[in-house]
Parts: sequence; structure tokens; C-alpha cells
Amino acid sequence: RGVVVAIDGPSGSGKSTIGRHLAATRGLAYLDTGAMYRAATWWCREEGVDLDDEDAVRRAVAVMPLEMRTDPAQARVVVGDADVTDAIRTTQITTIVSKVATNLGVRAWMRVRQRSEIADALRVEGSFEGRGIVAEGRDITTVVAPDADVRILLLAREDARLARRAREVHGSDDDDAIAATRDQVLRRDADDSTVSTFTVAADGVVTVDTSDLDLQQAIAAVEQVVAE
Ligand code: C5P
Repeated sequence: RGVVVAIDGPSGSGKSTIGRHLAATRGLAYLDTGAMYRAATWWCREEGVDLDDEDAVRRAVAVMPLEMRTDPAQARVVVGDADVTDAIRTTQITTIVSKVATNLGVRAWMRVRQRSEIADALRVEGSFEGRGIVAEGRDITTVVAPDADVRILLLAREDARLARRAREVHGSDDDDAIAATRDQVLRRDADDSTVSTFTVAADGVVTVDTSDLDLQQAIAAVEQVVAE
């Protein structure tokens, strides 16, 4: 039987980079669930749906033609015939994604879709020959895959998360870049606080603090948890 690795963490904890790397080195599928919420947000905008109309958002997402390509070497997000992999990373989407992600109807739909992606990666006749998957997000260890073989919560101090995001978005972690990142990161944490708070790890979830680790060290720390 294949393996399911669930990784949760706030933005800037390193979960995407580490999750993708882990999947690639182990020959596993990779599912970025944050990208699914981003794609739903992109789709609602495209369809002209009022994000304050919860029922309209739920109905729009229910018919979204979303395709997650889970090969970690070429992970793409496709909606209908549009490859939205880059379009879902804009500040515009990042600023409003929490509104879609806190919609309970949307979350119920996502839970079903995410579980079916996980089941697919465990199917012997599937593209990953049943080897399994790394799925990362905010509620994978607790809600989507609480029975995963390995469950990891990646945490990092606020200063470390801000510095990482500043380097990603502005290519620098000087004071100006951090100031430009701070509002966005902290406001999104607050907006997401009904779905994820990350104050305590759930039972059986291993916490890895990446604050003082570089990427190689963080990968090694996660690899060690997976190997145990
Ligand atoms: O990780 P990323 O920044 O791409 O996530 C985008 C947003 O998707 C988060 O801010 C959160 O609102 C939502 N999300 C979620 N549950 C997940 C993953 C992401 O609510 N499992």
C-alpha cells in the first residue's frame, strides 16, 4: 500500500517547497490544496460571482472544471482550458482567497475533491502506481486526511515567515520588503483564523519548527519524520 503524507502550516512555513521536494524524491504525487482554493477564487472572479454571496460562490465552485496535475516535476493547475498556475499567485487573488476559503460549502466540496485526489494516488493503476501522495495545506492533518500515515505541522516564527515571503515576493528581506509583506501576511492569517490557527498540533501530528533552518535543513528534518 502507498503512503499518504499530510503537511499543514501557515504561509511562509515552507510547506510548498518542502512538500514538492519530498514528493519528487520519493516518486509520490503532490497536491497543493492552497492552489485549489486559489483556483476557486480565480474561477469566481472569471465568472463574475459576487464573493459576498456565499450561496452563489458555493454553486459556482461546485461546477468549476478544475484539474490538478499532481506530478511534482510539473505541477499545474488547470481550469477548463486555462492553465492558471501563475494567474492564481497574483496579489489580487492572495488578497481575497480567504473569503472563498471560509465558505463552508466550498470547504465541503474541497474536502471531497482532495480525498479523491489522495485515493487516486493510491490506486495501483493510477499515474503514481499506488505509491502515494504528499498533500499540503491548512487542514490536511486534521480534516482532509486525519488518518494519513505521516502528519506534520510546519511552524515558523513570525519574523522568519515574513522574511521568507518578502524574499519570494520582493526578492529581498530588507526592512522595506518586510514592511510591504507584513500587512498582507498578517491580515491573511487573521482572515484564515476560522479555518486554521496552528497554536497546538492535533494528537499524533509531529511539529517541525523551520524558523532557524535553511531549506536543506528543513527538508532533512521532514525527511527524518517521514522515515521514522
Ligand atoms: O497556501 P496558500 O497561501 O496557497 O493558501 C491560500 C489560501 O487557501 C489560504 O490563505 C487559505 O485561505 C486557503 N486554504 C485553506 N485550506 C487549505 C489550504 C489553503 O483554507 N487546506
